[in-house]
Amino acid sequence: MNIAVIYGGKSKEREVSLRSGKGVANALRRKGCNVKEIDFVSSNFIRELHDIDVVYLALHGRYGEDGKIQGLLDILEIPYVGSGVLASALAMDKAKAKRIFDYAGIRTAKDLVLKKEQSIELKQIEEEFGYPLVVKPNQEGSTIGLSIVKKREELEEAIENAFLYDTEILIEEFIEGTEVTVAILETEKGIEALPIIEIVPNKNTYYDYESKYSAGGSEHIIPARIDKNTENIVKKWAIAAHQALGCSTLSRVDFIVPKDQSLPVILEVNTLPGMTETSLYPDAAKAIGLSYEDIVYRLVEITLR
Ligand code: DAL
Ligand code: MG
Repeated sequence: MNIAVIYGGKSKEREVSLRSGKGVANALRRKGCNVKEIDFVSSNFIRELHDIDVVYLALHGRYGEDGKIQGLLDILEIPYVGSGVLASALAMDKAKAKRIFDYAGIRTAKDLVLKKEQSIELKQIEEEFGYPLVVKPNQEGSTIGLSIVKKREELEEAIENAFLYDTEILIEEFIEGTEVTVAILETEKGIEALPIIEIVPNKNTYYDYESKYSAGGSEHIIPARIDKNTENIVKKWAIAAHQALGCSTLSRVDFIVPKDQSLPVILEVNTLPGMTETSLYPDAAKAIGLSYEDIVYRLVEITLR
């Protein structure tokens, strides 16, 4: 079987994608597959796909996780691991995805969408959200462009910074609590929520880019130290979110479990979650006895079933 692993690309998460892609390509080779690695910046890349049976997308963020390359592969009639065009595009657009989660009865954080051309009343934002509040680009991953704002002096700068990454940004209420994540695996038997992972950032106060990708930046605690009732809700909502967006094969759904014991709050669905050897999704798979190469290979098998 000829597999192309597509990674890199033009998104801000390029570096993470290179690590996911190299890991996935090596894992598939260890499983005996014939693997071609393709960096998605090369304009030749369509030509490189001519003898390919299946594509493993190890892209994150724009042009990779947002449905665009999925549409291209659909037209070329080449199967690929993961969600299709619509689910990918919806998951990438945090504001639109949140409206669907609301409809599905999943708790979301209160938000306001701002467009670049819109005039912005800082006073109105302060009155509505109070401090701290969260500012983030609407379509970005890995907490790039995200700020937790504690006072007026930081607000303007946070908004300007988020607009560097997108023409639409989100202002959100800040919810203090523990970040947890649920890996979803969809097989011929149904949709399964793997053991919940609790994320403990070591150096920084929240799970930012540095905590995510530097050695020792965070710890993954499996199973998460949450009560049974919360665990059940998080798993139920993770599956509901995956289904509501119409995701396929895999996703990873992030939540905050609030310190004040109120219901969990969904943050987002990642349709192409990080797949480096120390990423969250492979760690969840290890917790059910699947090694890194087992889970990567399994995802390809599910795609071709
Ligand atoms: N966006 C990164 C890759 C993740 O969620 O794992
Ligand atoms: Mg993400």
